[in-house]
Amino acid sequence: MKILHIDSSISGAQSVSRQLGASVIARLKEAAPDHTVVYRDLAAAPVPHQSPSLQFAKLKVMYEAGVLSGGVGDMVATAIQAGATVDPTTEAELSVLDGVLDEFLAADVVVIGAPMYNFSIPSQLKAWIDCLAVPGKTFAYTATGVEGLCGGKKLIVASSRGGFYTVGSPMASMDHQEAFLKSYFGFVGITDMSFVRAEGVNIGPEQREQAIASALSEIATLKAA
Ligand SMILES: Cc1cc2nc3c(=O)[nH]c(=O)nc-3n(C[C@H](O)[C@H](O)[C@H](O)COP(=O)(O)O)c2cc1C
Repeated sequence: MKILHIDSSISGAQSVSRQLGASVIARLKEAAPDHTVVYRDLAAAPVPHQSPSLQFAKLKVMYEAGVLSGGVGDMVATAIQAGATVDPTTEAELSVLDGVLDEFLAADVVVIGAPMYNFSIPSQLKAWIDCLAVPGKTFAYTATGVEGLCGGKKLIVASSRGGFYTVGSPMASMDHQEAFLKSYFGFVGITDMSFVRAEGVNIGPEQREQAIASALSEIATLKAA
């Protein structure tokens, strides 16, 4: 079993999602010590954001592999004929993107530490997620619609947020953090998803402690596969 562990909080040792994610990894390793773990800290080493030059580089690769046709293919062909090239910085960014995608594709279990920032996820985590949306790799367009290609993976999200957003709470409709992750990873075909969460951690020290303890006890019951 291969585990991919992602952290995205900017809060270092104070981070709740980092603590919960590390505990998930410890639990998985305890249940099955032969698991291997690949780790990425997106706050320490952010992956590149999408950009016009990166988009052109990605399309050029697809065009040269013969998998880009129609109007976009024509546009890329025209740009190449006009002398458009990919600069070394963009080449390096492209290889980071490829590495991110390969790590995700290789993983049997993906563990994501995901804090809520402004009702959504950290932009560093969004940039990582943007690397995964690759047609033919994580999802496919078919005659009957879009099909997710990552059905064999298990996803565990270690979620932390300052307030309360679970169903029934007054701010539930403002949750674009867990809701987004659920939609996105469902879109790429993952059905085996769990969220362990510490909520209301900024309400006060008692609530923070209680929320973390409750999430940690939930983690202690997680199954390895
Ligand atoms: C930039 C930033 C934005 C935040 N936005 C929200 C928010 O919209 N809603 C909320 O409930 N908490 C918000 N918080 C609080 C965090 O969700 C909370 O502190 C959580 O524990 C962060 O995860 P971490 O401890 O892993 O860093 C925000 C915190 C930061 C640093």
